[in-house]
Amino acid sequence: MPILFRPVYSVDNPHWVPALRAGLADLDMRIWPDVGDPSDITHMVAWKMFPGDRTAYPNLRAVLSLSAGVNQYIGHPEFPHPAKLIRMIEPGLSSGMVDYVTSYVLRFHRDHDLVQAGGSTIPWGGIMPTLAKDRVVGIMGLGEMGGACARALAALGFRVRGWARTHHTIEGVGVYAGHDQLPHFLNGCDILVCLLPLTPDTENILSRDLFAQLPRGASLINVARGKHLVEDDLIPALDSGQLRMAALDVFRTEPLPPDHPFWSHKQILVTPHIAAITIPETGVAAIRQAIMMLDRGEDPPGLVDFERGY
Ligand code: GLV
Repeated sequence: MPILFRPVYSVDNPHWVPALRAGLADLDMRIWPDVGDPSDITHMVAWKMFPGDRTAYPNLRAVLSLSAGVNQYIGHPEFPHPAKLIRMIEPGLSSGMVDYVTSYVLRFHRDHDLVQAGGSTIPWGGIMPTLAKDRVVGIMGLGEMGGACARALAALGFRVRGWARTHHTIEGVGVYAGHDQLPHFLNGCDILVCLLPLTPDTENILSRDLFAQLPRGASLINVARGKHLVEDDLIPALDSGQLRMAALDVFRTEPLPPDHPFWSHKQILVTPHIAAITIPETGVAAIRQAIMMLDRGEDPPGLVDFERGY
């Protein structure tokens, strides 16, 4: 069962190659460009597809994505159909996302940015805080990471609501499903977190029209994909006061170009796509489990439905 890994990022050789070699030591692990005979390769561990991938490995059975988001493979002309695609589900990603999202929710909830910007003009002891129980946080997307964030924020005492394509049940979280319920979900969200998969249905969902349905002064956290956000709609929404703050980890063009207006806008906090990173140790365990399950003819967690788009 020869497995091919193609390093792409700077973390790959120092972190992923040793973790894959250790965690899959009993399997035939090959690191690109040392592919050997390409017709041997049955599984590929990858961040994305490359030119030639569709035909180079005629016996490929599965692509194991190192990322949770798989929009880069769906519809890609080099995806080697009929191979299966497995998106990454592993506890390190969810844990990192919970840290990131809760940190920005707390920052916006306690108005840290306004208080710090006010400096010495803020009266000592003069601010009555809103408590978490009176703050509504809305999570769009209730998959592995959205669900984990919803539970963590509910445990911190926030009024958490979630919106997803289909109905979910999460204790302590009010769940809204489908486009019909989107306006009810948005109405009242003080802080909106986007953790949706990127599909034709969700692309451009963070738009002027959506912002107008939030309470005035709401804040936005986008940790899903850059294409969820209509970038040209964000700055007018912030400048008009409809939105108060935005924390963005993902962008249409990454790295975010140095002259992009998001860098200098005082109400936008930019981070370089670091909200949640797949952790090699736990990621390799998930890859191993998926390979074993596929070998037994079972559907592993994260098996992608190409029609649905994730
Ligand atoms: C990160 O963006 C991921 O999809 O894992």
